[in-house]
Amino acid sequence: MANNIQKVLDYLKQNQSQFVGELCEFIRFPSVSAQTQHKADLQACAEWVARHCANLGLDARVCPTAGHPIVLAKTRRGATNGDSKPRPHFMVYGHYDVQPPEPLDLWHSPPFEARIEGRSLFARGSTDNKGQIFAHLKAVEAYLKTGTPLPCDLTFVIEGEEEVGGKSLTDFLKERRKELFCDAVVVSDSGMPDKKHPALDYGLRGIVAFEIILHGPSRDLHSGIFGGAIENPAMALSVLLSKMRDKNGKIAVPHFYDDVVPLSAFERKQFKRLPTKDSELVKLLGVKKLFGERGYTATEQRSARPTFEINGLTSGYQGEGSKTIIPACARAKITCRLVPNQKPAKIYKTVCDYIKKICPPTVRLELEDGHGAEPYFFSPTGTHAQAALRALRAAFGREPVLMREGGSIPIVNDFKKVLGVDTLLLGLGLPDDNAHSPNEKYDLDNFENGQRMSALLWQELA
Ligand code: BES
Ligand code: MN
Repeated sequence: MANNIQKVLDYLKQNQSQFVGELCEFIRFPSVSAQTQHKADLQACAEWVARHCANLGLDARVCPTAGHPIVLAKTRRGATNGDSKPRPHFMVYGHYDVQPPEPLDLWHSPPFEARIEGRSLFARGSTDNKGQIFAHLKAVEAYLKTGTPLPCDLTFVIEGEEEVGGKSLTDFLKERRKELFCDAVVVSDSGMPDKKHPALDYGLRGIVAFEIILHGPSRDLHSGIFGGAIENPAMALSVLLSKMRDKNGKIAVPHFYDDVVPLSAFERKQFKRLPTKDSELVKLLGVKKLFGERGYTATEQRSARPTFEINGLTSGYQGEGSKTIIPACARAKITCRLVPNQKPAKIYKTVCDYIKKICPPTVRLELEDGHGAEPYFFSPTGTHAQAALRALRAAFGREPVLMREGGSIPIVNDFKKVLGVDTLLLGLGLPDDNAHSPNEKYDLDNFENGQRMSALLWQELA
């Protein structure tokens, strides 16, 4: 076997420029799931992925859903591994949809035309998630093209609704429970602290998304003629939002923290060993100073404490020059990140109750419910986690770290609930990858190391 895997690794080494070229093709599809105008681009992108998988020798197809299609690709099922145990089966999950590229004027090159500079590949979707899932596809290609037997069966599930919290994949899992049953799921759609520290992420935050809309007058009004006598919805919303957090950075919603599991002394000690320094974070993010809940380090705040964030705030005139109006309404798009054992529906209700209580009687409150996902946490002590750590160590030539991530991947909870299996989160993204931001990039060393990690992972897991 040792000999065979060398052939796989050599194949990967020899084909890097080819792989980068193919990734650029994958990136050309503006597969923005949030925008209906891109529906056909998502379909075309899914077809490209399926065709690509078929060319590698996978059994691949595009599965239509009520929303965006899902690509399902399987290795031809092997015989047993020679012993009496059933052959292991792992699922690899990823998503081909991407976040909207706006604001476009902040990009240094067009978001869907990959630009390579040094070891960085700039484009929307490069790190989140096209580049990361592509690393796994290239690893399986190396096995198939060198005729090296895989020690396990693999199923790739690549969806198109991750960035909008879509539900199609949940239904898909339920419908195909038997077919998709596996030993574990492998996901590279998160991060590592820096290039020198490959990571096994053992937790993700949950999320709840909603929108607060305050309605004032039935239309925009002249602010001189009527100003002073009526409530300004933008002002009312500002006051309301200011009551969501106290001066110590704690969320001021009563009962918000009721279900939060306190951090153990052991975990806090582990967090301290992670390499990211506060000063580096200030520099990387371009902020004047860090801010956060008092009593917690930045790492803890980012990965193991809940948040209340305004993602979008709109009201009144946004165009050139000035316009003297009292806006008819004001809206805020909100997401809260959740940690064990907070539940999205319960937090939504808790927050809504508080908003209803503090909303002034001069405006009409509308609350619009959005998507939600529970936090994910898994104990990194089992045999699968140990196998993953060995693969990371060998591929990167560095000691891997264990960390919890602040982002959310809603479907991992369904892998557990519907299929009953854990997910190994092997993030290949970097903090300066600009995920969801202008000038998103992917690190090409991580691409290559990720391919090696994936190739070695199947040996270690099986
Ligand atoms: N890849 C991210 C999630 C992520 C990023 C996890 C970094 C850990 C570290 C994923 O594509 C994403 O952005 N998810 C959304 C989910 C939401 C829209 C339901 C998120 O976290 O905002
Ligand atoms: Mn994302």
